[in-house]
Amino acid sequence: MKAAQALEQARLGYKLVPVTIRQLLYLSSTPCDFYIQENGLYVELLRKNTYIDNDVIRELIQNNQIHLFIYADDKKELIAVQQENLRQVTRSLSIGDALEKGKKQTNLLAINMGYLYEFPMEDDLLQLQYQSVVNLFRFLFENTSIHEQLYLDFKKYKHHYIFSQPFLSSLFLLGVLKMSHVYSEKELENLFVTSYFKDIGMSAVPIEKYNEKELSEHDKKLLSRHADISVDILQGRLPISPNHLKIIEGHHAFSLLSDDLSEVKKENSLVITGTETVMVACMDIISAMISERPYRGSTSLFEALEMIKILISDSYPNEFRLIVTYFKNFFAKTMRK
Ligand SMILES: [Fe+2]
Repeated sequence: MKAAQALEQARLGYKLVPVTIRQLLYLSSTPCDFYIQENGLYVELLRKNTYIDNDVIRELIQNNQIHLFIYADDKKELIAVQQENLRQVTRSLSIGDALEKGKKQTNLLAINMGYLYEFPMEDDLLQLQYQSVVNLFRFLFENTSIHEQLYLDFKKYKHHYIFSQPFLSSLFLLGVLKMSHVYSEKELENLFVTSYFKDIGMSAVPIEKYNEKELSEHDKKLLSRHADISVDILQGRLPISPNHLKIIEGHHAFSLLSDDLSEVKKENSLVITGTETVMVACMDIISAMISERPYRGSTSLFEALEMIKILISDSYPNEFRLIVTYFKNFFAKTMRK
């Protein structure tokens, strides 16, 4: 390598930040230059203003060009474009094909959730996410017939589980609580929003670390406090009532870490009091268990329900029955195949 090239590579290494290929979704053209690493060297992949559509993205995936880089200074530009995309689909959610709109909305929410995790104290990002989630709730409330397909389609995009889990657990929560006919639409909306934002405190740990099997002691401690950190981040910034903040605070009453199933112990269930907290926690556990993680495979729905049985069937037999019935209906189509 010539000296000039070596210098240029060193400069790029210093200035570039990684972005996932999903961040190209719904762009009509690239808002900045995109780079890729080939044989350890950074090379330009897509110049600014390059036309982008699904075929372009598909081709990149086929060529395994999925780990992209942009200049750190360009990140704000990319975020602004994806925020505008989310704003637009949020405004027109009820117009057009419901499933297509739902897919776009959930994907853009997950992409923007990534930005919010990077900058959790930016009001702009938080308010947009909130407004979009409220609209998504109304849309899902009115379109229960597409829930299963939307769930299956959303999973295909393989968003990082930290960004997909809020939607998945909240989708189930909405469905199961709606089926109970106990809550008004407004109450369901509040619980949906509560469930969606409950893990925002996980942004205290950098996202790359969640792919590791074993977190450092320091990160483990931060993670075990994520429910409290979520409350700190949200309090006074979103219209979430003190009662709902309490649900967030208690959503890990069953376990210290949502993904460390070995930590889920029945005796911890005594800590839980409110039915809403139980339901939020159970939907969180089920959606986590039936989804893959970088360090473990997914479990079957049956195994997840067995876990819920151990946790709540004594103290909350009606809720347990409701959950079983709900999931039997939810996966009706999938199970028939
Ligand atoms: Fe959590």
